Amino acid sequence: MQTGSPGDPGQKTASFTRSDAPMDLGSLDKQWILHPFTPIAEWETGTPMIIAGGEGARIFDDRGNAYLDGTSSLWVNLLGHRHPAIDRAIREQLEKIAHTTFLGLTHEGGIRLAEDLARLAPGNLKRVFYSDNGSTSVEIALKLAFLLRRKTHPGARRFFSLERAYHGDTLGAVGIGGIDRFHAPFYPLSQESLKAPAPDCFSCPLGLSRDRCSIDCADVAVRTVREHAPELAAVILEPRLQAAGGMIVWPEGYLTRIAQAAREEEIPLILDEVATGFGRTGALFACQLEKVVPDFLCAGKGLTGGYLPLAITLFSEETYRRLREDPGIFYHGHSYTANPLAVAAARATLGTLEEGCHISAIGGKRTVFEVLERNLANLPFVGNIRSIGLVFALDVFADGSRKIPASRETMTGIERKAQSLGLIVRPLTNTLYLIPPLSIGVDDLTLMGDILAESLREFGKAGSPNPVR
Ligand SMILES: Cc1ncc(COP(=O)(O)O)c(C=O)c1O
Repeated sequence: MQTGSPGDPGQKTASFTRSDAPMDLGSLDKQWILHPFTPIAEWETGTPMIIAGGEGARIFDDRGNAYLDGTSSLWVNLLGHRHPAIDRAIREQLEKIAHTTFLGLTHEGGIRLAEDLARLAPGNLKRVFYSDNGSTSVEIALKLAFLLRRKTHPGARRFFSLERAYHGDTLGAVGIGGIDRFHAPFYPLSQESLKAPAPDCFSCPLGLSRDRCSIDCADVAVRTVREHAPELAAVILEPRLQAAGGMIVWPEGYLTRIAQAAREEEIPLILDEVATGFGRTGALFACQLEKVVPDFLCAGKGLTGGYLPLAITLFSEETYRRLREDPGIFYHGHSYTANPLAVAAARATLGTLEEGCHISAIGGKRTVFEVLERNLANLPFVGNIRSIGLVFALDVFADGSRKIPASRETMTGIERKAQSLGLIVRPLTNTLYLIPPLSIGVDDLTLMGDILAESLREFGKAGSPNPVR
């Protein structure tokens, strides 16, 4: 709490005059900013990379160095930086209006984008509720599912999700999250969901052999859903790929099994496609890989091509009708709901995604991953190589035969080495991954793979003596 009155001599008066002190941006950053998911003391002692520009699959720092964007700027950039069509769409919208509220008003961009989404979305998911980030798109789905479910099951107020799930950082999303490192400190503030193990067949939490894991893991999840059905307000999953949880690629059929159980128990199914949506897994939405249509589909990130914050929660006309009857109004909204600039970026992104056949081109680009996998085969400390669509991941081990993960120092060393060779990566504990923009060319994707392999080789010299089994 601040004390003192404006006249208090101890109180410094706020000033809107900008300092013209020499600009060491790194020091100024450290003086004024707290960064997300960034170790504070390490940040204070390091030299921050200051991003000054981007073009296609590359970003540039303020010293003129170029880096391949191996994380698509944290899974948001879809078609490359400074895409002409998206740039143009935003400029054109700027000539009209930058923002207006969506509460009780509407605008053409928001309407047209809803029309586009209705055409592209799986099954009957023709209605949209706009928000401005992935976490809120999830919160909205949780609330809407609860409103529907309470009509028949007034006591149903728990959610089912998976261990190692990540659905965002708001408190509702924390409750259904399952990454202890991120979520456990905040569990006392949120309602912890009912959980089943994630289907990670490489290090199966149930200790099952690889071929049994997919079947038995699904059995455990299905049994949990069925046993607790009356108390469940919704089942929420990240279909086919648990990204933040360690790039866990699900075995085929796992999603279908849980979706079927939820359907039979009449529990709303929410699929969180914030990370997987808009082509990353090889289909526009990952649920389409198994022809599963959820009751609610959440998406964000790539929707605007990684330009501006916008998210969507999709649902059916039937759901809309039931909400119209009761409660008749949805008390939820955000200041920047359906921001017109973001909506313009999204329409340009979806148009370009369709016209450019970026999703159908993924199959051809995946040959680069096959070559990369062969390249990495002789590194004994690398294992669990997996991929889906244009996502490639591997794990690094201190001792491969005992599956002891590489230390944080090792992973930071690999990250820095890759950076020095011109590639941005961001490990998730001992997992390294590539999620390039879908528009990346085969040459740049090959270069990404080569740099990744080279960075691993360098650090492998001090790596695991025992190969991964
Ligand atoms: C599956 C999933 N859901 C939700 C979110 C949260 O999205 P946002 O960071 O836009 O709030 C993320 C972010 O990485 C995600 O991967």
